[in-house]
Amino acid sequence: MATTNLDYASLFAKNAPEGATSWGGFPTYNFVGGHNNPETMPVEDFVESSARVLRQEGQNLATYNMKSGPQGYTGLRGFLVEKLAHYRGLRAPDENVLITSGSNQGIELINEVLLEPGDTVIAEFFTYQGVVGRWRKLQVNVVGIPLDEDGMRMDALASTLADLRSNGVRPKFIYTIPTLQNPTGTVLSMERRHEMLRLSREYGVPIFEDECYADLIWEGEWPPAICGLDDSHHVLHIGSFSKSLSPALRLGYVVAPWQVLSRMLACKTDGGTGALGQMVVADFFQNHYEEHMDKLRTSLKVRLQALADALVEHFGSSVEFQAPRGGMFLWVKFPPEVDTLKLAGPALEAGIAYNPGPEWAVEPDAARNYLRLCYALPSEQLIRDGIAKLAQVFRREAGIP
Ligand SMILES: Cc1ncc(COP(=O)(O)O)c(C=O)c1O
Repeated sequence: MATTNLDYASLFAKNAPEGATSWGGFPTYNFVGGHNNPETMPVEDFVESSARVLRQEGQNLATYNMKSGPQGYTGLRGFLVEKLAHYRGLRAPDENVLITSGSNQGIELINEVLLEPGDTVIAEFFTYQGVVGRWRKLQVNVVGIPLDEDGMRMDALASTLADLRSNGVRPKFIYTIPTLQNPTGTVLSMERRHEMLRLSREYGVPIFEDECYADLIWEGEWPPAICGLDDSHHVLHIGSFSKSLSPALRLGYVVAPWQVLSRMLACKTDGGTGALGQMVVADFFQNHYEEHMDKLRTSLKVRLQALADALVEHFGSSVEFQAPRGGMFLWVKFPPEVDTLKLAGPALEAGIAYNPGPEWAVEPDAARNYLRLCYALPSEQLIRDGIAKLAQVFRREAGIP
């Protein structure tokens, strides 16, 4: 790479972030990030869909937003409207849908429209690292609500809302990942979905529902989206095609009342979400949604089983976990003396990457003995070998198991 003697440091804006570290490639045993299963990538169908949509509508690529307007390609919004109604009980008109560049952009837009330094938000105590990091940067206070096997506890949410109100604080939203919660994998029960809505109305605090993983349930009850139970515009809903199809395509969506969506649209200054991906996904899913989801869910279930078996074989009673009813990650608890943050370095030296617990908690110290393992990307063999090696590292460095 060319070097420069220009001192950019003297030019950087005061609040420009620290530089990112350069990418060193994937580790051999990659249990981090929500990568998908390469074996389920429908490559030939993508080729067919691409050819079809380009022949039919390729000339529209000459215009910004392909004559569909800034909310996204009408073909993809049309598919979403049908999918959400059919599978998530969520009936939203297409004018309330915005296609984003991944659901992370939806998170950023909602934050941008609603949050200021000093604001308070509520979230599950263990939650998506990406949101906690953003809120910290925005100097927003985060109040974590404990979870049990049915998701966020409503008794704790009710008392937190009451306490905050008595201190004159009205939180900006209740952020929740109700369906296959990240990182715990729990599914919020139907009763609690109704109760959360009731509390949201009582306290005038909207629910920010993140349904990134909702397509991936393979067993048991599949409760509708909270947004689908709501007729009072108390829910801002986001979802993604990263987990149901491909994270590299960078496609997500927001469903929100126009009063909020119109503001978000004013903040979305990227000239529109990439068109070709939207066209291909719309065509592919209009023809193959069920078939693809069945295949993906089956493959994930097999990998989860391989992971659970390997953990039991190599860590025995030193690990506790509750196998989720779907999704692509497992939240694992170790004895209290284990520090997963400290062990991440030695694990990486052995070629194993995992997500240390503290990164996935509102109070990082409370999750020192947890870690998150994503199992969609590594093959069953890599899962087995990786967990065997991880046990060697933990034994050497921490005497566990
Ligand atoms: C809960 C949750 N929300 C949102 C995202 C963002 O995903 P994407 O921007 O790829 O749609 C993720 C990614 O892992 C996630 O776990």
